[in-house]
Amino acid sequence: MIVTDAVRSYIDETRPEPDALLAEMQERGQRDSVPILDAQAARLLNVLARATGARRIVEVGTAIGVSTLHLARALPPDGELVSFEIDRERHTQALSYFARARVAARVDLRLQDAGEGLRELEGPFDLAFLDGLKAEYAGHLELIVPLLRPGALVAVDNVLMSGAVAEGRAIDGWSGDRVATARAFNDRFLGHPELDGLITPVGDGIALAVKR
Ligand SMILES: C[S@@+](CC[C@H](N)C(=O)[O-])C[C@H]1O[C@@H](n2cnc3c(N)ncnc32)[C@H](O)[C@@H]1O
Repeated sequence: MIVTDAVRSYIDETRPEPDALLAEMQERGQRDSVPILDAQAARLLNVLARATGARRIVEVGTAIGVSTLHLARALPPDGELVSFEIDRERHTQALSYFARARVAARVDLRLQDAGEGLRELEGPFDLAFLDGLKAEYAGHLELIVPLLRPGALVAVDNVLMSGAVAEGRAIDGWSGDRVATARAFNDRFLGHPELDGLITPVGDGIALAVKR
């Protein structure tokens, strides 16, 4: 828990209910133990994408498509979202959800390792969301920054790992090694010469930065 129980409950109680499709995706995620983005963090991404007028978005880690759907719904009709996923079953499930969500034309779901796929992309992108394997964040960030236009936004999930990153020790299944890797990534992200960023305690910790 990153914020107090009372704050967490209040935020959950005041949040609008998800629509039927998102609720189904969230239920499936819980049932199948698919790690999906915290609901409040997902709303934050949608708001930020709309506020920045993002037209081209790139995402690492589709899973079954919860964060992808929030981002896709923020795009204009001629917008484009490229999202990478390496798990075939999750990718297939995401494809079927997107066929139902009426945003499939805007979404390019790639069953491909992001480290490989990012090298094939041409920028500029307006927004990037990193939510793949935490140990690969640093490498993915270095591939993504050159694809972003100046002023573009980059968001990264799980940068606080249930609070373990702030405490600098293993908590809640996040091992000491993973915590150390996360702290090193956060230092790199916040000190990146091309980014101006911060860490927010939304969800499991979302880091945000604007490209200079
Ligand atoms: C935390 S989940 C993503 C959750 C999703 N963004 C959401 O909010 O619903 C991370 C996903 O990244 C995928 N993944 C891990 N490493 C990857 C890589 N190198 N390239 C593409 N996908 C990767 C995993 O298979 C997993 O489904």
